[in-house]
Amino acid sequence: MTVLPRLAAPFPQAGAADGPIPFNRPELAGRELDYVRDAVDRGHLSGDGFYTRQCQELLSGMLAGARVLLTTSCTHALEMAALLLDIGPGDEFILPSFTFVSTANAFVLRGARPVFADIRPDTLNLDEERLSSLITPRTRAILPVHYAGVACEMDRIVEVAGAAGAAVVEDNAHGLFADWRGRPLGTFGSLSTLSFHETKNVFCGEGGALVINDPALAARAEILREKGTDRSRFFRGEIDRYTWVDVGSSYVLSDLLAAFLLAQLEAREAIQERRRRIWERYQEELAGWAAARGALLPAVPAHCRQPWHLYHLLLPSLAERQALISHLKGRGIQAVFHYLPLHLSEMGRRFGGRPGDCPVTESVSDRLLRLPCFPGLTGPEQARVVEAMLAF
Ligand SMILES: Cc1ncc(COP(=O)(O)O)c(C=O)c1O
Repeated sequence: MTVLPRLAAPFPQAGAADGPIPFNRPELAGRELDYVRDAVDRGHLSGDGFYTRQCQELLSGMLAGARVLLTTSCTHALEMAALLLDIGPGDEFILPSFTFVSTANAFVLRGARPVFADIRPDTLNLDEERLSSLITPRTRAILPVHYAGVACEMDRIVEVAGAAGAAVVEDNAHGLFADWRGRPLGTFGSLSTLSFHETKNVFCGEGGALVINDPALAARAEILREKGTDRSRFFRGEIDRYTWVDVGSSYVLSDLLAAFLLAQLEAREAIQERRRRIWERYQEELAGWAAARGALLPAVPAHCRQPWHLYHLLLPSLAERQALISHLKGRGIQAVFHYLPLHLSEMGRRFGGRPGDCPVTESVSDRLLRLPCFPGLTGPEQARVVEAMLAF
């Protein structure tokens, strides 16, 4: 057996002063490796061990006491939501066209048809005023996505969904630690989902959670997550053997990853504070440049507490956005665009998507740029990014 050499540093550290600046650099926040070692010492590497319980309790406390189940990804949590709601062929669900493919795929996998909504030009969130026009007798669910963790207008969305008898499932991949009028994101829908992918504010490489606000869905959620068995009840000593009772799959996160995640969650104040400072520095130092270039900096309504997840701006045109990406790349800085309109993707077109269906999404997708924004971005690195922007 080959023994790998021990790495001097577990993650790439800030490079030379003029070295490349990545879009994201996932770094240890504190006790991750101690907790992973402890998880190994505890001899429980599969799911639902000590660390999973700790993470779930901590998250539940942040989310108004909701039942939280760690999952292998946000994608899988969304798939669980579709299963829990018994989504099937003939059903429709409404989602913004400006989102990650998983918001659509999780429900398409069950045979449902996506109905793409356009977004608001300010927050880039599902436009709540256009929602009613998309409702049909087949609408079973509405999936708002809190882009960059800035809240959708949840009162209107919940109202429209309620009138249509549709469930609200919040795709809250970006919005842990954020709130809308003082209420945490992820607590409005009967279900919501979180992501702990390495690009998120707290991460474990790949991971997620299903947040269950409707207690009537909790017992079945445990079963779907455990391959369609009542193994969770067996592990709690409530039954003397477990068996196949429903459909399901393997959505349980390893306790090794939960150990890593707990250390991240425990360091959340420091992580959020560093993100806030980086975000605010961009906002301040780019304001004059943006006004002169006709670029728009992010808009966060006063009633939304944001989680400082992304720093994005809108350039006047696709050509300028592409030129800026190349300009930054030439200076060793990785800046990236984001979602392509789902309704115009190969799959989206199969569901009837056509150019012009979601004009705001189509325009924003061409013009949006995200800058490096992660807790380990050093002051000199950020100064280089700002300088490069001002030189464009
Ligand atoms: C809005 C949204 N939903 C879902 C996901 C999927 O998350 P995961 O990679 O944890 O499956 C992402 C990924 O970034 C996302 O941006």
